[in-house]
Amino acid sequence: MAPTTRNDLLAQLKWRYATKLFDPTRKISEEDWKALEEALILSPSAYGLQPWKFLVVQDPAIRKQLRAVSWNQSQVEDCSHLVVFAARRSLEAQDVDHFLDRIVEVRGVDPASLKGYKDMMNGHLVQNPALVPSWSDRQTFIALGNFMTSAAMLGIDTCPIEGLDPAKYDEILGLKGTEFGTLAACPAGYRQEGDKYATLAKVRFPESELFVRI
Ligand SMILES: Cc1cc2nc3c(=O)[nH]c(=O)nc-3n(C[C@H](O)[C@H](O)[C@H](O)COP(=O)(O)O)c2cc1C
Repeated sequence: MAPTTRNDLLAQLKWRYATKLFDPTRKISEEDWKALEEALILSPSAYGLQPWKFLVVQDPAIRKQLRAVSWNQSQVEDCSHLVVFAARRSLEAQDVDHFLDRIVEVRGVDPASLKGYKDMMNGHLVQNPALVPSWSDRQTFIALGNFMTSAAMLGIDTCPIEGLDPAKYDEILGLKGTEFGTLAACPAGYRQEGDKYATLAKVRFPESELFVRI
């Protein structure tokens, strides 16, 4: 299979915008949604530790509650599929072991061969719990970016949302007191005709300001 073309890539990245108005009547097909869930699963993370949960919120009553704590942003209710990105707030030795078990299961390697790797993860993160939340947030934002780009490649609109109350989300979604906490949300679906943001010029700094070529 050929990879996508440069033209297609750039066309879809220019087509994507932070969608303000979703068409509540249009739903993402089951096949496309499956592919987007797989894109989430395939997101990279440091050590491969995947310090996240993806909550797919389809219950209209819950969506209504979430909208009220998301600056009343309509996308939360009107989108086809709503993903809440939750990131680890803690990481214990047993979580590292769980990941190592999965490596053994998938790759069939000898657990003893993973000792150095295990020590590295424990030394960096388990023994420095204060580092874990911000480290997890950074990883989880990568999954969010991967999700948005993947959706755009399929002609599906998204809007990343940090304009929300994470503590309230945690309460509503049953995350309070767990090892995961809300980071951001991402409604996905199809733009509504007439969303004026769809045609606004993209505001980006010029190449000369952004790149340092060494
Ligand atoms: C992490 C993150 C959080 C954001 N939060 C919101 C939000 O709460 N509501 C919103 O309408 N847009 C939100 N945006 C969208 C940005 O405003 C938008 O991506 C930026 O202005 C660039 O425009 P474009 O994405 O349409 O090209 C967010 C973007 C990111 C990356």
